[in-house]
Amino acid sequence: MSNNIVVAIDGYSSCGKSTLAKALAKKLHFIYVDSGAMYRAVTLYFIRNNVDLQNNEQIATALKNIHLNFHSRDYQTHITLNDEDVSDEIRQMHVADKVSPVSAIHDVRVAMVKQQQRLGKSKNIVMDGRDIGTVVFPHAQVKFFMTADPKVRAERRYNELLPTNPNITLEEVFDNLAHRDYQDTTRKESPLTRAEDAIILDNTDLSQEEQLLFALSHIEPFMAE
Ligand code: DC
Repeated sequence: MSNNIVVAIDGYSSCGKSTLAKALAKKLHFIYVDSGAMYRAVTLYFIRNNVDLQNNEQIATALKNIHLNFHSRDYQTHITLNDEDVSDEIRQMHVADKVSPVSAIHDVRVAMVKQQQRLGKSKNIVMDGRDIGTVVFPHAQVKFFMTADPKVRAERRYNELLPTNPNITLEEVFDNLAHRDYQDTTRKESPLTRAEDAIILDNTDLSQEEQLLFALSHIEPFMAE
């Protein structure tokens, strides 16, 4: 049996999950997997190819034609969709607006979860998303559930998007987050929910360094084993 360590980080949109996950991976030399990027890349493919979300056949064909890969460069993770680096485009609003309905589709989730489980089979990993501690790795050694004040989350995301989207408004970002939270927590397929054994991390008033130290204190006991 493999005894690799899996750290699962779930939580609401724009809670700083990926910032913490990347910092942990860098510090511990673990592999970082951004599962949200996978759903975003699938969404981008669906948009580009006009896949009808009501048509199971079209969805199944599309999923067969989607090949996702992660590459690490300068501690940044890049995701490729059929060999094209789509890391920047998947962060744009046209993808963010459509990703919740796409990630609620059963066949999409089955395909993504299979790939995610493969990635965590034999290596030490940190994976962030919505169902990592509940569905993808229910036996992960350490699970965090991240949350923060919705206004603080919207401001953080707005500041991230502003340089490439000068016309974007804070209201637009706030509404998109609220809508995604609602869809992610109320969907039938693997809704966002805290695993019973997940440690809650509310980072409204915490610096990145404080979050990192908090998370490390929970992971380090497993490293010593
Ligand atoms: O983490 P993110 O905001 O990049 O995720 C984009 C969307 O993908 C989010 O609205 C919900 C969905 N998602 C999911 O359903 N399951 C995951 N494990 C990760 C993301």
